Amino acid sequence: MRVAMIGTGYVGLVSGACFADFGHHVTCVDKDASKITALEDGIMPLFEPGLAELVEANFRAGRLAFSTDLAGPVRAAEAVFIAVGTPSRRGDGHADLSYVHAAAREIAAELDGFTVVITKSTVPVGTGDEVERIIRARRPDGEFAVVSNPEFLREGAAIQDFKHPDRIVVGTEEPRAREVMASLYRPLYLNAAPILYTKRRTAELIKYAANAFLATKVTFINEIADLCEKVGADVQEVARGIGLDNRIGAKFLHAGPGFGGSCFPKDAQALIKTAQDHAAPLRIVEAVLAVNDVRKRAMARKVAAALGGDLRDRTVALLGLTFKPNTDDMREAPSIALVTALNDMGAHVRAYDPAGMEQAKLVLGDVVYCDGPYACAEGADALVIVTEWEQFRALDLGRLKDVMAKNPVLVDLRNIYRADEVARHGFVYDSVGRPSR
Ligand SMILES: NC(=O)c1ccc[n+]([C@@H]2O[C@H](COP(=O)([O-])OP(=O)(O)OC[C@H]3O[C@@H](n4cnc5c(N)ncnc54)[C@H](O)[C@@H]3O)[C@@H](O)[C@H]2O)c1
Repeated sequence: MRVAMIGTGYVGLVSGACFADFGHHVTCVDKDASKITALEDGIMPLFEPGLAELVEANFRAGRLAFSTDLAGPVRAAEAVFIAVGTPSRRGDGHADLSYVHAAAREIAAELDGFTVVITKSTVPVGTGDEVERIIRARRPDGEFAVVSNPEFLREGAAIQDFKHPDRIVVGTEEPRAREVMASLYRPLYLNAAPILYTKRRTAELIKYAANAFLATKVTFINEIADLCEKVGADVQEVARGIGLDNRIGAKFLHAGPGFGGSCFPKDAQALIKTAQDHAAPLRIVEAVLAVNDVRKRAMARKVAAALGGDLRDRTVALLGLTFKPNTDDMREAPSIALVTALNDMGAHVRAYDPAGMEQAKLVLGDVVYCDGPYACAEGADALVIVTEWEQFRALDLGRLKDVMAKNPVLVDLRNIYRADEVARHGFVYDSVGRPSR
């Protein structure tokens, strides 16, 4: 099948490469010419494990192409995906749909023969209706169907998630569109990934409800962690104790510095706005966002407390800046609020991240960027593990102690170390929701 992917960001590029790998002919389109030129030269515009190899193999095989011009690819395609960004709109937190609407207008001009236009971007309920209206207004005679097909991949595990999804959600009641969607995803449901066909509006809401629920789970365990610290309980054991209950499940129960990333914060915010507009406010999700917002800055107070309360002219070294491991994405990363708060308290901040430093430099100025974890720790009073990259899981604690200032502190915001082991190496140790040493 011929596919045009409009928007070649995380979702567009991963989906495009995976569809090509299934055997479809895909053209990934983006307005950002530097991105397209880089891709044609074999340079990935973003860091995602396994993506470079997948893109290269399918590009070489002639199944994956790149373009800045949407016209040719859309005319040739039976399926056109909209995978452009839907960031928070400045001022009110609604999803900014200007990129989606612009893409719909551009697609409308080029439709040729029956075409399924599929919204993969995360969009509020009713956006499919508006996309259909936009296209119909320009092409009263056009043969097309607008489908919602939200994407659930996680950055850092995006290819695995795309190729082995828990489910594929397809929102359409149009039989012809359903057939096209079925052939696009056939390789996956042969692997037994269920396709859930729903109304378009239902599919749109499923995506937001899923993200809001996961954000709620994370925030719930974060608040339980705070309580654990007060009452002398261990949040990891609480999480295990509740997670073994199948009705609850063990995932997304890791206490930490608060959620960030390109999706949870903006999607929770957009869902809250949609709910308010329909006079069906989602109080739980509102609380989740509010709790998460204050949490990131509170992590700086945790560092200050571990250092005796005053950060003025103390040096704090951060390991990890991205919102999660295996990505270079800095969007809404907890490290941003953390660094700002540490700077506000008068600390000197040093940092190292295995993949995110280029992106971090665009949003965090007052930081000394270092070449590795040990260089980062040099002279620091406190070392803070912010993102749980694999390479931070087995640090040489003796070597760290040697390069750090006297009486060093390790603040483990991801609970990856054992308190007794760290304390044995002469550190003051603090983590999240566990007894400190
Ligand atoms: N990143 C994720 O993990 C993830 C997961 C699931 C869903 N989503 C959703 O998918 C959508 C895309 O997210 P992303 O992270 O890939 O965004 P992104 O910002 O990485 O990529 C969007 C791309 O679209 C391009 N673009 C915008 N308008 C265009 C147009 N008219 N024509 C061609 N290109 C255009 C931009 O230049 C950009 O490269 C969002 O709605 C997001 O919420 C993201």
